[in-house]
Amino acid sequence: MSRICIPYGTTEGQTAKIAEYVADVVREHGHEARAVDLKDAGEDVLAGCDAVILGSSIHMGKHDKHVGDLVRKNRAALERLPSALFSVSLAAHGDTHEAETYVEEFEEETGWRPSMVALFSGALLYTQYGFLKRHMMKRIARGKPGDLGTDTSRDYVYTEWDGVRRFAEDFLDGLAPDTGGTQQ
Ligand SMILES: Cc1cc2nc3c(=O)[nH]c(=O)nc-3n(C[C@H](O)[C@H](O)[C@H](O)COP(=O)(O)O)c2cc1C
Repeated sequence: MSRICIPYGTTEGQTAKIAEYVADVVREHGHEARAVDLKDAGEDVLAGCDAVILGSSIHMGKHDKHVGDLVRKNRAALERLPSALFSVSLAAHGDTHEAETYVEEFEEETGWRPSMVALFSGALLYTQYGFLKRHMMKRIARGKPGDLGTDTSRDYVYTEWDGVRRFAEDFLDGLAPDTGGTQQ
């Protein structure tokens, strides 16, 4: 059994939901999982982890600041441990090239090249946004590929949960036997 840490950076909460879903899949496979919001985490968030799945949402073309800080401070540990990144954005829904660019820029900024990367579609949570954010997001949604919703009286969740499950299971399959995985 491995202890899998799933630290994440979120603003509106969709990345938290994905991290908790990943944690559930990990537990179903007999491992320990701990999903931690980096806003509430201490310095030692990676202590005792056998593997790390890091999650981050995208705002204004950037990964979450707490995630960047964690990577910069813990790059050596992330390079030593089996580790993966999942990046949550609207671009992942209709403009994969843009979503890939966010990750490439993050890798350049932090110097960390995760061995596994997943791009997950996030959500448009119009009913949770304040007035200005709601109207800004509607305007952005209109101009983006991917047929994003523009009815601000409701929310749109684009995350494909089967893909999240596959990513978590592929990560577990890739763990070496001594960290509890099934293959090298
Ligand atoms: C103010 C704001 C800015 C955003 N900027 C981008 C962006 O530049 N590119 C993108 O693909 N998605 C962008 N998004 C969409 C978010 O990535 C998406 O809503 C995601 O689900 C947010 O994750 P979170 O709920 O974990 O914070 C933005 C969303 C908001 C509210």
